[in-house]
Amino acid sequence: MATVLKASPIVKQYAADLKQECAKLKANGITPFLKVILVGQHPPSVTYTKNKKKFMEGIGAKCEILKLDEQVSEKVFIETIASVANDKEVHGLFVQLPLPKALAHIDVGQLVPSEKDVDGFHANNLFKVLSGDCGEKALVSCTPKGIITMLKHHKIDVTGKSVAIIGRSLIVGKPLSMLLTNLNATVTLCHSRTTQLKEITKGADIVIAAIGKAKFINKDYLSDDKKTIVIDVGINYDASGKLCGDVDYDDVENHCSHITPVPGGVGRMTILSLAQNLIKAASSLAKDS
Ligand code: GUN
Repeated sequence: MATVLKASPIVKQYAADLKQECAKLKANGITPFLKVILVGQHPPSVTYTKNKKKFMEGIGAKCEILKLDEQVSEKVFIETIASVANDKEVHGLFVQLPLPKALAHIDVGQLVPSEKDVDGFHANNLFKVLSGDCGEKALVSCTPKGIITMLKHHKIDVTGKSVAIIGRSLIVGKPLSMLLTNLNATVTLCHSRTTQLKEITKGADIVIAAIGKAKFINKDYLSDDKKTIVIDVGINYDASGKLCGDVDYDDVENHCSHITPVPGGVGRMTILSLAQNLIKAASSLAKDS
């Protein structure tokens, strides 16, 4: 039976630290303030942003969701981001993705100042990670940061390990491949055009699924020695409408050494990372002012 890497004890521990840091900032007259820009009514995005707000408020920070109409013009959308970015009260902001088709071509990471970029999408933050930073200076993308926090918490040293990441997005796969490389893992970044995917994942010590396809990874993708660590980034719904990951949990749980559940795994770590980035941004901005 695999060890289940649940987020809740980790989140509980780190949230207590964040609460203390937030209280210290507030005692110095600074209330960490996160502003979320949500365009349209995409149901998962509505849920995610609500969960993010609840968590920020739980640690004592302030969080507002600025809702824009699905039909908002590009001009108004860009002006809104600029106005939030220039607000001295705001320490962190991000645009919830995905955006409606008409706005999807906009690189929102470049519209948010790097010091308030709690999503870690700005070129300055991405470049720091590319250069070897694991979050010492950079604001690091939340899902990759959460996965690293989880591995470190469980004392899983990735040095010399082979890691197969499936999914090359700018939100997860690419920054995660850099972070793991910085931590001395040997990373194979797989994607939809990868040939012989099974051979790659079967040879990996750690398999990270960020594909966006329900229950895609089954036991056939894992090493026969049952020693693979499986990290599931997916948030999907199966044929019966039940929340599930990119990994077929029931099929693999007896064929791996560790596995993250969905829900209760990487998703919760992502929100923790966002809160850590907010406190980091607020502390840095406070020092600079
Ligand atoms: N949509 C899904 N994941 C994310 C994320 O990490 N950041 C933003 N802004 N939108 C998302």
